Amino acid sequence: MNKRFLKVAAFSVAIIAAYTLFSSLYVPPMKPEEPPSLEAVEIASGVEGFVALGEKIFKGKGACALCHNAAGRAPLLDNIVDVADTRMAAPDYHGTAKTAVEYIRESLASPSAYVVTGYGMAGDEKTSPMPDVTTGAIGLSRQEVDSVIAYLQRLSGIEVTVTPEEAGGIDGAGAVDASAAGAEGAR
Ligand code: HEC
Repeated sequence: MNKRFLKVAAFSVAIIAAYTLFSSLYVPPMKPEEPPSLEAVEIASGVEGFVALGEKIFKGKGACALCHNAAGRAPLLDNIVDVADTRMAAPDYHGTAKTAVEYIRESLASPSAYVVTGYGMAGDEKTSPMPDVTTGAIGLSRQEVDSVIAYLQRLSGIEVTVTPEEAGGIDGAGAVDASAAGAEGAR
């Protein structure tokens, strides 16, 4: 075999390997709804608009309802505000949340900070099957996360304290920003 043939063969193998690797690593993202534009967020002002936006994200772009539904793949979130108190009081809770809002925020950005008993990965109870929804394919913005929290407060039947104006946040590293205004006074 001549050198040129070997070169061409090696090149082809490399290309095929690259494509194979790419297609095996690249999992096409779930088809989420078009993300609402910032303009839409502004139009949907006021508590009702914010809650409605959160519901839309919960059932669409956020993919939350794919797991959090009656099928039981993930816990139901219709009373998460009360449930959050129980979680934070659990002896095995090692997260940093002090309020329900912080607990929900933490659950979204660092799902494995606390893994609800029985819902961990198969063979690894310490790892949550839930993705960090603030990055990756879902990639919710800070304001989108806040609207989802507002929607969850509404579902729990309490006053909605997270509003666009008070939007608390997750910093660039995805850590919970406890000083964020959205967390204050909210339980
Ligand atoms: C791939 C499935 C999946 C998706 C998508 C998902 N979750 Fe989860 N989520 C889980 C599972 C499983 C748990 C329980 C394990 C744990 O504690 O992390 C959980 C836990 C939670 C908790 C804590 C629940 C509790 O009872 O303490 C909250 C809050 C939450 N998810 C909110 C959301 C929101 C909001 C979205 C969408 C933006 C979302 N999740 C998307 C699977 C998912």
